[in-house]
Amino acid sequence: MQDHGHEAGRGHGAHPDHDEVFDRDFWENKYRTSDPAALRHEPNPYLLDVAESLTPGRVLDAGCGPGAEAVWLARRGWEVTAIDISSVALDHARNLAEEEGPDVAGRITWQQADLTAWTAPAEGYDLVCTNYVHALEDVVPQLAAAVRPGGTLLVVDHFDILAVLDPAEWRPIPLVASPRVVPAFDGTETVLDDRVMAAVKIAPDTP
Ligand SMILES: C[S@@+](CC[C@H](N)C(=O)[O-])C[C@H]1O[C@@H](n2cnc3c(N)ncnc32)[C@H](O)[C@@H]1O
Repeated sequence: MQDHGHEAGRGHGAHPDHDEVFDRDFWENKYRTSDPAALRHEPNPYLLDVAESLTPGRVLDAGCGPGAEAVWLARRGWEVTAIDISSVALDHARNLAEEEGPDVAGRITWQQADLTAWTAPAEGYDLVCTNYVHALEDVVPQLAAAVRPGGTLLVVDHFDILAVLDPAEWRPIPLVASPRVVPAFDGTETVLDDRVMAAVKIAPDTP
């Protein structure tokens, strides 16, 4: 389930390139009518790239959808907070986690919330990731604030990601994005042309 591009959109309002409003009802309906098999997809490859070299700590998955990334992170020992606007997506995600057993499921806190109206705990997370949520101009500054000094922010989307991070406070992680074939919501396949932004928040005492 990653045909997040053209018809699947943002949490509030419309994307500059699209007139549709992508609110909670849109996402609930999207997940209710999706091919359940397509909701069980591989975790995002850019997250794997970034997280594989990190020591597990506290992670926020903002707009977690059906949970592939949250479950992968919990399997590796991360304490995960996973937020989504859709309760249907969270039901899928919880089921996926429970199939992994209590160790994995017990490391994930699922939260139904609208990220555009949500206040992150300041600098609480070692890693904050968000994949294909699209409401980035509203949400990224808040997600950036939720990263602890020395922690990492990863944003993946198909639309251009606004350069909202202060270069004096963030060290970019070079990642190469290339088009990839993924399962679509309806069980067919689609090609994603990703935009990726990853950066480490510079700790104040870093030379
Ligand atoms: C295209 S899906 C991506 C899901 C998951 N991150 C992935 O990569 O498979 C976008 C997700 O963002 C969620 N979402 C959209 N707007 C949101 C908002 N304002 N607050 C919280 N979640 C939101 C949707 O419910 C949906 O699960």
